[in-house]
Amino acid sequence: MPSPNEILSELKKVKYPGFSRDIVSFGMIKDIEVAHSRVTVMLTVASAKPEVIQKIVADVKTAVSAMRDVPAVEVRIEQPPAAAPRAATGATQREIPAVKHIIAVASGKGGVGKSTVAVNLALALRGRGWRIGLMDADVYGPSVAMMMGVDKPPALTAERRIVPLQRFGIGYVSMALFINDETAVIWRGPMVTKLETEFLFNVEWGELDCLVLDLPPGTGDAQLTITQRVALAGGVVVTTPQDLALLDVKRGVEMFREVNVPVLGVVENMSYYLCRKCGHRHEIFSHGGGARYASELGVPFLGELPIVRELREGGDRSNPLVASNPHHPVSVAFEAIATRVMQQVECAP
Ligand SMILES: Nc1ncnc2c1ncn2[C@@H]1O[C@H](COP(=O)(O)OP(=O)(O)O)[C@@H](O)[C@H]1O
Ligand SMILES: [Mg+2]
Repeated sequence: MPSPNEILSELKKVKYPGFSRDIVSFGMIKDIEVAHSRVTVMLTVASAKPEVIQKIVADVKTAVSAMRDVPAVEVRIEQPPAAAPRAATGATQREIPAVKHIIAVASGKGGVGKSTVAVNLALALRGRGWRIGLMDADVYGPSVAMMMGVDKPPALTAERRIVPLQRFGIGYVSMALFINDETAVIWRGPMVTKLETEFLFNVEWGELDCLVLDLPPGTGDAQLTITQRVALAGGVVVTTPQDLALLDVKRGVEMFREVNVPVLGVVENMSYYLCRKCGHRHEIFSHGGGARYASELGVPFLGELPIVRELREGGDRSNPLVASNPHHPVSVAFEAIATRVMQQVECAP
């Protein structure tokens, strides 16, 4: 019979369904017992989806049965207690001292306005009295630095901890401020994600009510790693009303559910065109899909934002709309989104 360690190495070849990461690195193996001519593998499964669990169980059985001298394999599943959903991933999900809540802003693809939403939502939360930090986790498309108007590397403390840059009353950092284009190309995939999470915990955030993370676009391994390692209070999914983008909403929602992070809701950006001259609302795409998808997926709909030139200009000119013109209808919309986010974060278990 193989040893538990040999079995563990074999289980490293079993991928988590839908991801290129394996179930061992996901921290799913609770215990392996080799006794009475039988191998018992105990799994902790954070996902409540039965088809995912079935697939993992089948794959584990196949992998272990294929090993030499294994007469029987039993797979036992331990569901994390519903009252403490974080327990399942608690081994790897870390909190940041003095930071009350961490929320992540995600999107299925780039260009949907994820960073615009992250920055303006952070400002709207600040406007409602919360102490806010903002981290740009999108190393390859670090647009938050431009929006925030900060592009110099932050200072370090004597302990070599990073001091966030301050603007609009928000502490802001980005790993991109430390690296140039060449290093960004060399640092690929998992290495970047690993460094990024380390980086996040090395920032001297001070006391915060909420830290907003602008995740890299997409819902793959890199995003999942961050959501898995950081104890998130919730996730916000940004989409645009085109059908293709809407399909990504499901992926975004599933990514957060996979790691037991509550989905705070969906924001539909560039939902309609708000004419500056006549104030008229022009529906360019069939808008409303975000709300419909959110309800189908059983997650809250946080609000819709029109296409307005001021929102883009505010970003391009390092003067985000919510900061420069808090009375603009879109800033008011952000305020409403911020209020919903605050309510949900505070009500979360
Ligand atoms: N509602 C909007 N109205 C007008 N321009 C927008 C809006 N949302 C985003 N943009 C612009 O679209 C571009 C992409 O937005 P960005 O926030 O960088 O997207 P992402 O972070 O998803 O890649 C930026 O130039 C931004 O200013
Ligand atoms: Mg972006």
